[in-house]
Amino acid sequence: MAFDFGPLVPAGSPAPSARWTGLAKFSFIGGNNDPDGVPVDGLKAAIDAALTREGKSLATYNLGHGPQGYRPLRDFLSVKLKRDAGMTCTADDIMLVSGSLQALDLVHGALLARGDTVICERDCYEGTLNRYTRLGVNVVGIPLDGDGMRMDALEAALADLKRNGVRPKFIYTIPTVQNPTATILTMERRETLLALADAYGVPIFEDDCYADLIWSGERPPALYAMSKSENVIHVGSFSKSIAPALRVGFIVAPWSIMSRMLALKTDAGSGSIEQMALAEYCTPHFDEHVPELRKGLKAKLDTLVDALGEQFGTAAEFDYPPGGIFLWVKLPDNVDTMKLYDKALAEGVAINPGPNWSADKAWSKSRMRLCFASPSHEQIREGVAILADVCRREFGVPERSANVTRAKG
Ligand SMILES: Cc1ncc(COP(=O)(O)O)c(C=O)c1O
Repeated sequence: MAFDFGPLVPAGSPAPSARWTGLAKFSFIGGNNDPDGVPVDGLKAAIDAALTREGKSLATYNLGHGPQGYRPLRDFLSVKLKRDAGMTCTADDIMLVSGSLQALDLVHGALLARGDTVICERDCYEGTLNRYTRLGVNVVGIPLDGDGMRMDALEAALADLKRNGVRPKFIYTIPTVQNPTATILTMERRETLLALADAYGVPIFEDDCYADLIWSGERPPALYAMSKSENVIHVGSFSKSIAPALRVGFIVAPWSIMSRMLALKTDAGSGSIEQMALAEYCTPHFDEHVPELRKGLKAKLDTLVDALGEQFGTAAEFDYPPGGIFLWVKLPDNVDTMKLYDKALAEGVAINPGPNWSADKAWSKSRMRLCFASPSHEQIREGVAILADVCRREFGVPERSANVTRAKG
């Protein structure tokens, strides 16, 4: 009989994972990117050039560049972040990590203890919300509107917490192409957010991986750039602008907290070939690559919007996103997207149900997030048609699809 590890697993461990059974045929889930948007030839040449020149440095952990990672990539980032996001930082203010998910773990490890309180946008990245659940921290979700996190609601929440003697550990925000709502926090709200953070003595945790994917090519300055009190931890990633499987993200933070996170990064460094390849590729090519990537993503968004209009009609409500890879869709109130997820998956269509992307499960019950970057145009059209059929069968909506009126039920 096989050894039973079960009784040895400490109490409070996460539930066991299910075995991987492959991607759905029509996959609208996850933060996957457009396969045609990966600069494969450029990365091949970059890896070859970097390894030819300095491959022997792989003999040393972190290539001998120290625990913050490969210096030329940090140099690239300090120039790019200044130019695009207005951030003044040097390579010494940047730590390269294994995707921004590791950045989340390091920030959380440095700042959070069970029972703490954090503030975030009400609709929020699942990877972050799951971490809060596992860490046993209290989450205060702030509603958003078309301009991002609502500052009146944030101010009320901060005042309320203060009255109850609670000082939140940080305000976590995805201000620039928010996940899942794709909203961009306006300049005015950025100023208000920073003023409130100062007034209440609460730092800001800015998660910024989608800012390169704004269709107009113009982004507002990062909160990190606008802060006058060094109270912002900024994290970013190459997952959305180059490729998620590379697993390269970064943290920009003041030394007082960077030094704490470095003490927790005990993995002897993140993958170095990826860092070399990115530095070699991005320094000359990032600026020509990203507009091409955006063009492909926007074309897919337009296909998705057309398909939803055709198949769901007015039953699918959404704001046209200014960038990114997700559409946040509201279906009629009677649709339970957790149930829709199960039923659609059985027919090969994977969606992200709203409650997994929100701190308010009731409010998000009939919402869903669709990633339009990874499916092909054909898969988008076919997948949305199947989804509409499943939704009609289960919930009676949409009543009409593809110009054919069908009976409810
Ligand atoms: C808001 C946000 N933060 C962090 C991540 C993690 O990205 P990665 O670890 O690939 O950098 C994602 C991925 O989708 C995300 O949407």
